[in-house]
Amino acid sequence: MATRADTETYRTLKSDSRLMPDQQPTADWSAYAATYDLLLEYNPAYQQLLEEFENVLSQADAPRVIYDVGGGTGNYSKIAASRYPESLIHFIEPDQGMRQRAKQKLSGHKNIVYIDKALQDVEASAEADLVICAHALYSMPDHQERLLDLKRLLRPGGLLFLVDLGRPMNVADWRYYLFSHLTKEVGLFKAIRILWKGREIAKQNKAIFKAQQDGLYWTHSESEIRSAVEKAGFEVLSQKTMYRDYSDLLLCRAAS
Ligand SMILES: C[S@@+](CC[C@H](N)C(=O)[O-])C[C@H]1O[C@@H](n2cnc3c(N)ncnc32)[C@H](O)[C@@H]1O
Repeated sequence: MATRADTETYRTLKSDSRLMPDQQPTADWSAYAATYDLLLEYNPAYQQLLEEFENVLSQADAPRVIYDVGGGTGNYSKIAASRYPESLIHFIEPDQGMRQRAKQKLSGHKNIVYIDKALQDVEASAEADLVICAHALYSMPDHQERLLDLKRLLRPGGLLFLVDLGRPMNVADWRYYLFSHLTKEVGLFKAIRILWKGREIAKQNKAIFKAQQDGLYWTHSESEIRSAVEKAGFEVLSQKTMYRDYSDLLLCRAAS
């Protein structure tokens, strides 16, 4: 199982200008952004992750400072900003297409600052009460170093809500699952229309699978991610598999 993407190899491959868009070695987040929120609308497994996040927020003390790392189109920040209008949310998202979508979605919230950087280039330290990192860590180079970056953002005792894709992305399995679900919910014709509209999602998920196979994206078991998180200085408060067992959800506390 591929576990570690070397930063230099990763950067070299990603910046190879001879590659056509279809040959990019990793996902094209801007292309994904255009249809990403079909997941929010139609994928119950994605909706369950957001419910888990709401549950965590309802049980934790009100966070003053939040970081949403790899925030994508802003679905987690939307929940946090609505629940805690007094909190300051730092939205870290290096991809312009994703960030633009998030800005539109979150335009009614004035407590969000947007940071156009990758996690590894953000210098803040020890200020967050809560860090959210959902389905982003696996796609970053050097996951162990990035876990240290997530820890650095947190004050001692602060919480990390971590969701990470761990197992190989099986596009046919997801298509079957969504097709069955949608056919029941909205009928055959609308199900076909939605899957067609979301074909870019399937394309980017294929790219994710390929990057996993090539070792550019991290794949892990439940115990591997737990060990990595503990090695970075977190205490794991709870852990479960989610997203049809493709992903791990860990709630962690930064050690003092
Ligand atoms: C699958 S999306 C997840 C979006 C959102 N967290 C969600 O779950 O809906 C992964 C996001 O991670 C971002 N990302 C990739 N590498 C990153 C890095 N090194 N630092 C911060 N974000 C990164 C991508 O730009 C992309 O928007």
